[in-house]
Amino acid sequence: MSFPHPAARDARADTHRRVPLTHPVLDSGGGDTSLAARSQRAVWHPCTRLRPDASANEPPLAIVRGEGPWLIDAGDKRYFDAISSWWVNLFGHANPAINAAIGEQLQTLEHVMLAGCTHAPAVELAERLTALTGGALGNAFYASDGASAVEIALKMSFHYWRNTGLTAKREFICLRHGYHGETVGALAVTDVEIFRDAYDPLTRRAHVVMSPDARQAARSESAADVATRALAELEALLRERAGQIAALIVEPLVQGAAGMAMYDPSYLEGARALCDRYRVHLIADEIAVGCGRTGTFFAWEQARGGDAVPAHAWPDFLCLSKGITGGYLPLSLVLSRPEIQRAFVADDIARSFLHSHSYTGNPLACRAALATLDLFESEDVLARNRERAQWLGTAMAGIAADPRVSHVRQRGMIWAADIDPQAAGANFAGRFHLAARERGVLARPIGHTLYVMPPYVFDAELANWLGEQLLDTLQAVLDPAEEARHAA
Ligand SMILES: Cc1ncc(COP(=O)(O)O)c(C=O)c1O
Repeated sequence: MSFPHPAARDARADTHRRVPLTHPVLDSGGGDTSLAARSQRAVWHPCTRLRPDASANEPPLAIVRGEGPWLIDAGDKRYFDAISSWWVNLFGHANPAINAAIGEQLQTLEHVMLAGCTHAPAVELAERLTALTGGALGNAFYASDGASAVEIALKMSFHYWRNTGLTAKREFICLRHGYHGETVGALAVTDVEIFRDAYDPLTRRAHVVMSPDARQAARSESAADVATRALAELEALLRERAGQIAALIVEPLVQGAAGMAMYDPSYLEGARALCDRYRVHLIADEIAVGCGRTGTFFAWEQARGGDAVPAHAWPDFLCLSKGITGGYLPLSLVLSRPEIQRAFVADDIARSFLHSHSYTGNPLACRAALATLDLFESEDVLARNRERAQWLGTAMAGIAADPRVSHVRQRGMIWAADIDPQAAGANFAGRFHLAARERGVLARPIGHTLYVMPPYVFDAELANWLGEQLLDTLQAVLDPAEEARHAA
């Protein structure tokens, strides 16, 4: 046995101090040792522009702890997490029940591979999610991030058709401005230019059809009319190319990254009927809208305008991630209809679904998800959220009344409105984000769309406080003189 040389140990202990105090490309120098500055030097942050002018790179907000809906920085300043940390958090940060469940799981089994092995949290979670679909969907296939779940659904659909002899079905349809993640396969069904265009040469772009986004309604049209128009466009494509199309993928009820574009539930029922008629799979991407965000546990439950959804009217695949662990750990999964799995039952290995990820079905993540489902049951969350949704709508009334604000909309726990682009000016989202931070709110508008999607842990008073801060922020951002005064 050999022991490391003492000098080697010292060098390891000192590692962080050996990271240069300036960034070779992005820093103008200064040797800032704050966590934010060190992060800028050591971490390549997601979805973040790196500008050659170092002073233009806004340092990240360094968070040291979380508590309910609050994120807290090193100076003890608190920020209300109005966007649930990228739409993942459901029951607040450092939730005691989820903490305890993960702690307990940690004492027994932290991880085991799911190929050839299994464990109780993965099995129980799969069983409970199947029960939540009334048994319509099952065969939980686990992965880690949302984009991986989308990749799995796309691959399974294509492979299903191949296994059933329909080898020409290898194309996909997505909705205009739809977003399904940023791995190469998921980008092919994503219609958000800033994420997709640079990688276009790598993808096999899907067919893009009209979104049912209700904001497109002409003066005399209802949201349902827009959905009908969108369905007509979908049908025209299916009539022409169904023989080559494997699946349609949709974000049910709310297209998140499109700017919380909301649409009439009749689109879901209509799309289901068309997919049946033309023998095309329907993939419901509930990564953002699942877990109660839209008012029901699965957004798809609203496909029939509130009536129970019979087994045959569920999608063929349903992708879930983000909130399923309460926002604690990366976990995603794909539920599918029983007949999908049947097509993979064969001695021939080429007919098997050989997809895998190392952390597939991680026990800690599954246990966090079970604790999340327990909270839904024990605290009657969906019923209580109906009241919270009302508080949210009321709290945002001041913003809704501003003449520069249009298309005010809400679906369950998601509230959004558009700001007149002229009034918003350049880089509205970035300016709003910083001004809201000053006021103790973490918000990230999408383009000119201001939205909130908070964790389910606020009362009427806190909702009103949030509404006041956001209104104050908006007024400051739309009035640059006011913004400058606040910053001074
Ligand atoms: C609808 C939808 N699908 C897929 C994804 C991708 O999930 P992830 O970021 O975990 O890969 C997202 C992420 O925001 C999403 O909103």
